[in-house]
Amino acid sequence: MATKPAAKTASDSERTTVDLEDLPGVGGTTAERLREAGYTDLMELAVASPGDVAEAADIGLAVAQKIIGEARRRADVGGFESGTTVLARRQKLGRISTFAKSLDELLGGGIETQAITEFAGEFGTGKTQIAHQVAVDVQLPVDQGGLLGEAVYIDTESTFRPERIVSMAQGAGIPPDEALARIHVARAFNSNHQMLLVGKAQELARERPIRLIVVDSLTAHFRSEYVGRAELAPRQQLLNKHLHELLRFADTYNAAVIVTNQVSARPDILFGDPTRPIGGNIVAHAATYRVYLRKSKPPKRIARLIDSPNLPEGEAVFSLTSEGIRE
Ligand SMILES: Nc1ncnc2c1ncn2[C@@H]1O[C@H](COP(=O)(O)OP(=O)(O)O)[C@@H](O)[C@H]1O
Ligand SMILES: [Mg+2]
Repeated sequence: MATKPAAKTASDSERTTVDLEDLPGVGGTTAERLREAGYTDLMELAVASPGDVAEAADIGLAVAQKIIGEARRRADVGGFESGTTVLARRQKLGRISTFAKSLDELLGGGIETQAITEFAGEFGTGKTQIAHQVAVDVQLPVDQGGLLGEAVYIDTESTFRPERIVSMAQGAGIPPDEALARIHVARAFNSNHQMLLVGKAQELARERPIRLIVVDSLTAHFRSEYVGRAELAPRQQLLNKHLHELLRFADTYNAAVIVTNQVSARPDILFGDPTRPIGGNIVAHAATYRVYLRKSKPPKRIARLIDSPNLPEGEAVFSLTSEGIRE
């Protein structure tokens, strides 16, 4: 994605923390509903659409508009930033190592913060293994490839395995019990729950140094719940909202976001790879880095970077080992 939304990002210290209840037209019930829907502070409300807010709080559009207007005034939303400010923010970019040098190099030095990195591929290509590995690596000091941070792991397919974290932590030199304690796992039961969990992650990030959110898998629930042509538009709209909430989290907390994606068969393709990631253009536009995984001679996997705004397309080979991802 070449242009990111120019939403003003504030560091924790300069974030405006005002009770939602202080806004005109927001009573206790409305504030509670807004918080449940992920609108936990003024900035989040200020950049929201009236339709979303009206629906989240079960209020009229006019009231929603008034609330958003007031949130904008109080949050001092700047529409434009100078290139200098954008550069200063980008200089704070962090990177998390995957522990496979070739894969890190493909990604320009590791999984980047303030961005969404998508891993797409068929079953068994290593998406979940990479997600586990990065959830461990984010905990390491910066000179060892981490960000001294913690991870939120949104698990939609019940494939999070603490045993794998234990092995990978041993491989990374982190006491396994500490590594497990710094990964905050939530099982998402459906797409709606999955989206709500991003709001919960925001709450957690105020108390814990969350520098990574994993959504494994981004699309599985959406795909099984919204079936058929008629449901494609609402599905894409919700996926879009979900991805933008993830991106907002990434910007606000200088965190990395990893999403995994299945690929669907594409019978119309006769030559080349007859599969493509689910979610179409919406995911393609929101994900800053898209990595396509495929199997090679076991335990090897091949990663291919597609559609990056600032990196050349290329491929990397890595291995899935008992201690995790390796060169
Ligand atoms: N303990 C382990 N030791 C070595 N390789 C493993 C281990 N656990 C899983 N793997 C490898 O990871 C693969 C599964 O990858 P996974 O990330 O779950 O795929 P998906 O892309 O479907 O999420 C297995 O086929 C195996 O090659
Ligand atoms: Mg998986």
